[in-house]
Amino acid sequence: MKEVIITRYGSPEVLQVRERRNPTPRSHEVLVRNQFTGINFSEIMARMRLYPGAPKPPACLGSEACGIIEQVGREVSQFKPGDKVMLFSKYKSYATHICTDQNLVIPLPEAFSMQEGAAFPLVYVTAYMMMFDLGNFREGETILIHGAGGGVGTAAIQLAKSMGGNIIGTSSQWKHEKLNELGVNHCIDYNTEDVYKKVKDATGNRGVDLIIDPVGGNNWKISYKCLAKMGKLIVYGDQNFVKGKSFNFFVSMKELLSMPKYKPIDLMSRNKSVMGYHLGRLDGAEEKIQRAVNGLLRLVNEGKLSPVIDKVFPYTQSAEAHQYIQDRKNFGKVLLNFGDNAE
Ligand SMILES: NC(=O)c1ccc[n+]([C@@H]2O[C@H](COP(=O)([O-])OP(=O)(O)OC[C@H]3O[C@@H](n4cnc5c(N)ncnc54)[C@H](OP(=O)(O)O)[C@@H]3O)[C@@H](O)[C@H]2O)c1
Repeated sequence: MKEVIITRYGSPEVLQVRERRNPTPRSHEVLVRNQFTGINFSEIMARMRLYPGAPKPPACLGSEACGIIEQVGREVSQFKPGDKVMLFSKYKSYATHICTDQNLVIPLPEAFSMQEGAAFPLVYVTAYMMMFDLGNFREGETILIHGAGGGVGTAAIQLAKSMGGNIIGTSSQWKHEKLNELGVNHCIDYNTEDVYKKVKDATGNRGVDLIIDPVGGNNWKISYKCLAKMGKLIVYGDQNFVKGKSFNFFVSMKELLSMPKYKPIDLMSRNKSVMGYHLGRLDGAEEKIQRAVNGLLRLVNEGKLSPVIDKVFPYTQSAEAHQYIQDRKNFGKVLLNFGDNAE
């Protein structure tokens, strides 16, 4: 098999292909011949030594993929060789062959291509659990989606639309036309516009009911101000740590010092909530993830969700794919092709 590993921490060029023996599934695992892998921002952070809990180099990366089951462990009953599946994986999906626990595998919906299957699990489950499990998002409410043109952002737009929500999205200016096409009511260029003022204008001074914010310290302060009564701010990433191609001590210190502090008494008297979400830290709460997957598959069957795929790179160009995302060129998901003709 071939896998893409981080040979050391650093710029995208540290991603290299290496050859290994094919893995053998353990009793509760399936072995999948991978076709496409979805790249997630956390992998860029792991490559830059900015993601606590990620394996140390040399190590494979990757949290999701889509392929065909080749072999099953002896305790696996729900799947068989030949099944097309989407899957979660813990740092193993930048590879042609992936062994993963049967509980992390989802049958590929009939309506989905293999590429859509690779662009689905992580970002849709993240958006769904934030919006509906934590955020209690309802019809007619307004959501502010930061990073609206990204993987999680485009998934959240489709979910908000499926509920009949009003959507405000922030992104780089060039993505606004595409965001409007997806159903965003108000777009804000966070680089040049006053986000707080634009949100107040768009909501008649009321503020928003739900905000999902992966940007970091300074943005969380602005987001908090944008909340309506009973509004909820969900923090779920910190992209401000990522500046340049590799880890920078001063950038990280600046970001740590910019973190807001919330006082419980203020949260109470202002009727605002601040919550955190981390899919990678949900061990022991698998039934909650499964409930989200079931809800999502219902929406897929109703034709309400269709992953936005921006670009597919052959796995031999994983470094270029990481750089593309870091250059903020993606609208939706970027995939790696691990299929037979990928090289
Ligand atoms: N907590 C969780 O469980 C969880 C799960 C999934 C993802 N996440 C987080 O959610 C965020 C989005 O993830 P994603 O995989 O969907 O990625 P993504 O949104 O596709 O990320 C790329 C986009 O982020 C924006 N961006 C903001 N700051 C950036 C920076 N410093 N460097 C490069 N791009 C930057 C750019 O768009 P614009 O310029 O248009 O804003 C860029 O195109 C990430 O922070 C990720 O870690 C968290």
